[in-house]
Amino acid sequence: MCGIFAYLNYNVNRERRFILQTLFNGLRRLEYRGYDSAGVSIDHNQPLVFRQEGNIESLVKSVYQEADAMGLDLEESFCVHAGIAHTRWATHGEPAPRNSHPQTSGDGNEFLVVHNGVITNYQVLRETLIRHGFTFESETDTEVIPKLAKFVFDKANEGEGSHTVTFSEVVLEVMRHLEGAYALIFKSLHYPNELIACKRGSPLLLGVKELNEEFNSGPTFHDSKFLSNIDHPKELFLSSDAHAIVEHTKKVLVIEDGEVVHLKDGNVSILKFDNDKGRHGGSLSRPASVQRALSVLEMEVEQINKGNYEHYMQKEIHEQPESLKTTMRGRLIRGGSCKAKTVLLGGLKDHFKTIRRSRRIVFIGCGTSYNAALAARPILEELSGVPVTMEIASDLLDRQGPIYREDTAVFVSQSGETADTLHALEYALENGALCVGITNTVGSAIARHTHCGVHINAGAEIGVASTKAYTSQIVVMAMLALAIGGDSITSQTRREAIIDGLFDLPNKVREVLKLDQEMKDLAKLLIAEQSLLVFGRGYNYATALEGALKVKEVALMHSEGMLAGEMKHGPLALVDENLTIIVIATRDSCFSKQQSVIQQLHARKGRLIVMCSKGDAVSACPGGFGRVIEVPQVEDCLQPVINIVPLQLLAYHLTVLRGYNVDQPRNLAKSVTTQ
Ligand code: F6R
Repeated sequence: MCGIFAYLNYNVNRERRFILQTLFNGLRRLEYRGYDSAGVSIDHNQPLVFRQEGNIESLVKSVYQEADAMGLDLEESFCVHAGIAHTRWATHGEPAPRNSHPQTSGDGNEFLVVHNGVITNYQVLRETLIRHGFTFESETDTEVIPKLAKFVFDKANEGEGSHTVTFSEVVLEVMRHLEGAYALIFKSLHYPNELIACKRGSPLLLGVKELNEEFNSGPTFHDSKFLSNIDHPKELFLSSDAHAIVEHTKKVLVIEDGEVVHLKDGNVSILKFDNDKGRHGGSLSRPASVQRALSVLEMEVEQINKGNYEHYMQKEIHEQPESLKTTMRGRLIRGGSCKAKTVLLGGLKDHFKTIRRSRRIVFIGCGTSYNAALAARPILEELSGVPVTMEIASDLLDRQGPIYREDTAVFVSQSGETADTLHALEYALENGALCVGITNTVGSAIARHTHCGVHINAGAEIGVASTKAYTSQIVVMAMLALAIGGDSITSQTRREAIIDGLFDLPNKVREVLKLDQEMKDLAKLLIAEQSLLVFGRGYNYATALEGALKVKEVALMHSEGMLAGEMKHGPLALVDENLTIIVIATRDSCFSKQQSVIQQLHARKGRLIVMCSKGDAVSACPGGFGRVIEVPQVEDCLQPVINIVPLQLLAYHLTVLRGYNVDQPRNLAKSVTTQ
């Protein structure tokens, strides 16, 4: 949901071409966050701004064309230079150059801003600024920010010959007026070679690359003085996420809410409002200077490359045997002297007692993450004995639904940044519930603001459609159920069977991935369908929802996941010989009910595709009507992990065959950081 990036080289010569390429590469890494339009600002005699509708490659092309037309010297070298860049997912205003970022204070580009988030009070600020003579060229909420910076700057310098106000003072004053969620990077004509980054709500990281070996290997790496050593040549990077930083350096600072980070003269200085209340605005205290240590990214560049795959989604689907292993590594114990089979979830160990005594466990999430929680709900209910309820984050907030002190609220989010889920978390914290986070992003807002939690460790997921995170989320929640179930004797056999099943799960996923060609063939048959229904129940109601979500979001084909038990209460009216329906009928306690569903759909001439357990085709589809997808059978509560894989493959192949962009589906973006 918008990606922001900046590159500042200090005490090291870099040509303009190199600076541009660094900015473009940063944007390419962030493109999955939004791809409606993009822009950069670099220096000539004053800051230049280039903005273009479309993806990053359209921007790259137009920048080189414009640079050529202007006679801009790409070989010109800068010992210090500050460039900023942005890739956009439109919220306010259509994708168009005027609505792209950097947004500017006006002619001369006195102040420039790239922004990820939404300024909720922008209308009031806009009207005020218009009253003070400002004119606006965009429909964005962001444009008020550089204009406000200019207003503050001009006001501070009224009557003065030369300005005395510092760049951070300007930005701190701007922040006092902003409400909403944001990560911002400021560049200014008045403060050449400096950058300011600040954030509230939206993610932002600083990467520090020292170009002096001796210093680099020194023992003071974790010392915050490191940030203020001005003599050494260095490159500094600001980015919405680690993907755009890791290829340059692993040394990062995760910027916190209320912090203002000033990059100047090789120094990184940080000021913080200590009473920052998140995104509701209100009066802020005087900011104080803070010292922070750098941390080391646990991420390899290979993780964020496509490798031998054509698309990220394809890579991530095929990575699942490995990602599941990483999710379970060190958490499942089998054997040893006591031959016990147990689950260790270190992040929750001090909270199990409270969770077991909860009045309810409430799962909260959006989209795929919600579906993963839905898939895990039955096993959690079974093993914990605690009632489990489901909440779509936005709906919980719309209703202001009840959350009690005695509740355990579990927030499931791949990115850990989804605005709806984050707001629901704030709401649950206000209501006193124990808040547990299940995320894939270390240091994300949800990971930081929950009381405790579990990282799913699925590795970077870049395809906008979530695949490997989904299966890892289910596995983490199955492990959560096992851990909460504790050592109850009555469920011991069941728990041990699930643990055995978890150990074997990566192999079974490897087996189901062999259906790739079969799913491609099926996709060829379905390529021109208008609509696709997916029926599931029990553990696989979630599979139906998630399979349909994958098809609709990437293949742009209408598709609905439905609870098979509801079929006769309406959806059956849709069924005739023109409708294709996938029915999930793998072996579990719902199997016989699914058999009748299949018969009833067949009687209405629906075109059936039945997913059943291996060797079960005759029972599931007697008489050979319908097409069959046979999948390996595993423990019932783990079956959703297997069953989703053919549907992920189907969605992937349908998309490629229909000629759509798999990794960047129309109108979508990963990390939905606006409500
Ligand atoms: C679908 C998809 C979305 C996300 C949803 C929540 O493939 O990716 O439905 O699952 O936007 O995102 P997270 O999990 O990051 O909170």
